[in-house]
Amino acid sequence: MRRSRREQGLTEFGDLFLPKEAAEPILGKSVRGALLNWLTEIFAEAELAAVGIGPRRRAIFDGPPGVGKTTLAHHLAARLGLPMLAVRPERLIDRWLGSTAQNIGGLFDAAAERFSMDGSGEDGVPVVLFLDEFDAIGAARSRADSGAEQERNAFVNTLLQRIEQHDGFIIAATNFGKHVDPAIWRRFDLHITLELPGQFERERILARYLEPFGLPRAALSLLAEGMASASPALMRQFCEQLKRQIIIGPKLGHDMDKRAVVERVVASVGPHPDLGKPPMWSTAKADHGRDRAIDGMPWPLPKASEIIDEKPTPAATVAGGNIVSLRGGTP
Ligand SMILES: Nc1ncnc2c1ncn2[C@@H]1O[C@H](COP(=O)(O)OP(=O)(O)O)[C@@H](O)[C@H]1O
Ligand SMILES: [Mg+2]
Repeated sequence: MRRSRREQGLTEFGDLFLPKEAAEPILGKSVRGALLNWLTEIFAEAELAAVGIGPRRRAIFDGPPGVGKTTLAHHLAARLGLPMLAVRPERLIDRWLGSTAQNIGGLFDAAAERFSMDGSGEDGVPVVLFLDEFDAIGAARSRADSGAEQERNAFVNTLLQRIEQHDGFIIAATNFGKHVDPAIWRRFDLHITLELPGQFERERILARYLEPFGLPRAALSLLAEGMASASPALMRQFCEQLKRQIIIGPKLGHDMDKRAVVERVVASVGPHPDLGKPPMWSTAKADHGRDRAIDGMPWPLPKASEIIDEKPTPAATVAGGNIVSLRGGTP
């Protein structure tokens, strides 16, 4: 498909995420509340304009790796019916070493153009700009004593200006909120912190990614306890590796005993080095959390549809529900 030169310019700086590819992250209550607020505001743009204000357009998501910052930004853009450009910081930083301000300008100029989803160049929509690893781009300015430092400060100043002038939605994400320049931080009018999931969210995340397999309520709860302090990304990897083992293991003649399978899965994926070790990854010979989770697991894993529980699993009651329900929907 032919794209206009402008649109090619856009993808020079990162990757385009289209609405139809978005998935809804499973989030805690406070983040869902913050999102409901923001979306309501965005859909009430005309009413807000009538009283002389507009919806907030610049948000920063802060939280450890793998909690769903990118997934959430993509989901949000999709709720607005807009594509998202995920800017790759290494491309900007590369450019910054060469010719600072000019390249930041290039990005924002390209982002100000409308993007046509069918590539025809007509009926364009604005893109949501997603600035990932924002700490790498917007690190605190320092006293400029060397040439490189001066150039860096010039870069941050240009970035601040362009963020402020930009008309569309900007979402920045960082694993290290405290490394972001306070002046930059203030340019964002919405700060959302994504925490590691609690027990209730862990159960739902495991249930989602174990599909089409499932666990009875008590076993799901034990496994979620064994995942305490795990990120959603790690839980997804765990579930997907487990399913992979279930399918591939017998073909390879692997030991398909429950404990052997789980141990292979645990050995093949692991928590981010900056995060703690959940009980499932404990190196202690006997970790009760891990043992309880494995002992509680029926084996072979049942299909979710075959599980008869006294009470439905949390996933069955809330799965598929939208983060928020709004009248109006996508424009
Ligand atoms: N809250 C969540 N609910 C469901 N899946 C999640 C969640 N957070 C992360 N994931 C999954 O983990 C992976 C990494 O998520 P990502 O959004 O890139 O995290 P981050 O940007 O915070 O590092 C994705 O495959 C995503 O599907
Ligand atoms: Mg991310």
